[in-house]
Amino acid sequence: MRRKLVIGNWKMNGSRAGNTALLSGIVAGLNDFGADCAVCVPAPYLAQAQTELEGTAVAWGAQDVSIHASGAYTGEVSAAMLLDFGAQYVLCGHSERRAYHGESSELVAQKVVAALAAGLTPVACFGETLAQREAGETEAVICGQLQAVLDVLTPEQVAKVVLAYEPVWAIGTGKTATPQIAQAAHQFLRARLAQKNAAVAQNVQILYGGSMKPENAKELMAQPDIDGGLIGGAALNPTDFLGIIQAV
Ligand code: G3P
Repeated sequence: MRRKLVIGNWKMNGSRAGNTALLSGIVAGLNDFGADCAVCVPAPYLAQAQTELEGTAVAWGAQDVSIHASGAYTGEVSAAMLLDFGAQYVLCGHSERRAYHGESSELVAQKVVAALAAGLTPVACFGETLAQREAGETEAVICGQLQAVLDVLTPEQVAKVVLAYEPVWAIGTGKTATPQIAQAAHQFLRARLAQKNAAVAQNVQILYGGSMKPENAKELMAQPDIDGGLIGGAALNPTDFLGIIQAV
């Protein structure tokens, strides 16, 4: 039985004062809803997340990681540095990184490897654009993105990865994938995982991301292959974020 996981991706949002209000609101309202929960914050706020979340049921993480361990890589943040601030999760290959920073599926796979090597849990993100969906390419696109990761991991490593299906057309648009569309993509991803290792495929958590809100979270998370959510906009408001966790 896979446990549900809800992760907030703050993207490039936050301020020290605002973060304190958001995090304290989440911590205060969190009950034993039966789901794990985490926030992926901008790197400068990792120390704040550690200070304010240590000892609570909310884990924290980052939104990107370098493939390099250390050295002359200006602007990069290594997996060991994230770990130094208690991070548990790191997003790898979010569609905004792929689109605005030219991250290839091969680079994303290397980031997953770097995260695993440091002991972090990578959240590897996949998803098709609207044009790709309309061209009937959804499965080919997400299969290619997943395969790049599977190619560089052993089944034991795959077991330590979280996947996220985030259709690009649903991100920040208010246009959520229907539970049926999302379930079909999740089922497809799990079937591809099963080709690598059937037992591992049954245990890997696959999160849905794209305009998830308290109002649609319940139906999405009730789908057999949807194991939680990767939340953008709704993660910036404690009531909405808690509402999604509660929907589990
Ligand atoms: O990583 C989360 C994400 O991209 C979804 O964003 O704002 O549509 O929930 P949003």
